[in-house]
Amino acid sequence: MRDEDRILSLPGRVRPRRLRRTPVLRDLVAETRLAADRLVQPHFVLPVERGEEPVEAMPGISRMGLEDLLRRVEEDLALGIRSVLLFGVPPEGDKDPEGHSAADPEGAVPRAVRLLKDRFGDDLLVITDVCLCAYTDHGHCGLVGEDGVDNDATLPHLVDMALCHAEAGADLVAPSDMMDGRVGAIRDALDDAGYETTGILSYAVKYASAYYGPFREAAGSAPGKGDRKGYQMDVRNVREALREALLDEAEGADMLMVKPALAYLDVIRAVREATSLPLAAYNVSGEYSQVKAAAARGWIEEGAVVRENLLAMARAGADVLITYHAREALAHGWI
Ligand code: PBG
Ligand code: ZN
Repeated sequence: MRDEDRILSLPGRVRPRRLRRTPVLRDLVAETRLAADRLVQPHFVLPVERGEEPVEAMPGISRMGLEDLLRRVEEDLALGIRSVLLFGVPPEGDKDPEGHSAADPEGAVPRAVRLLKDRFGDDLLVITDVCLCAYTDHGHCGLVGEDGVDNDATLPHLVDMALCHAEAGADLVAPSDMMDGRVGAIRDALDDAGYETTGILSYAVKYASAYYGPFREAAGSAPGKGDRKGYQMDVRNVREALREALLDEAEGADMLMVKPALAYLDVIRAVREATSLPLAAYNVSGEYSQVKAAAARGWIEEGAVVRENLLAMARAGADVLITYHAREALAHGWI
């Protein structure tokens, strides 16, 4: 028998359970920790002063008018949520084939950014989603040409939207459209316009996922015809994720994202090892709705499952956790 085998065969000498005996001991040696300051709460903003429209498929989440958003963010700040990600919900009548209202300074997002930064200054980090799908009448993330979504024709529109958000005072703009070259185009335009301190959180690795269903109800952004497989990533790929991540890093992204999160923990790990940029994981709408639905039926214990899911994202290598659960996780002490 080899020495190490003899040691392992001795009953009682090596006992991993010794470190699991008390909560204090377990906390002392825990390898992963959650904290409020790594959470980002997404919000859906309506271009009205007042209003709260619950999103049916996302219990606990509402589309909010500006006053309601301000009040909610103030409460969340008290809980410790210091970062938000904003999505605009334009009126149907404002949609057109090129999504022009995406860059309207009087749209929901720029107005919300101005209000939030006026009120909370640098106590609150404001990130804005940059994509055309909520603003186009066909619901695609870019302009539709003869041959599907036209990559290069879309770029100037994304640039305009990012500039509009930067001008309103966004700390980070977050392009989620998956057009090639958009990070570089946005970086150059921000720099040329004097917004060299505005950062880019790139949805670098975004899959064509079925988990976005409830979000599309919330943002009214479902494509009318077809799907997003011609521009979002193929669910089967992971090498391609590294290619996307490294390209966006080279184009000047300040932070990268993998989306969705829970079905892609292997991808989070792989990207974490391929870049030294901060990495965000987006715990998307469908992942949230699943937990909510099962919890509502009493089939799972919501708090414990949310904590376990967030820990999984962190353990896989994500620094920043974007999650609809943020508010409740802190309010109920789940993390
Ligand atoms: C817009 C966008 C989507 C999400 C974030 N930005 C939807 C999509 O690409 O269809 C999904 C977020 C979620 O499901 O929570 N491009
Ligand atoms: Zn989109």
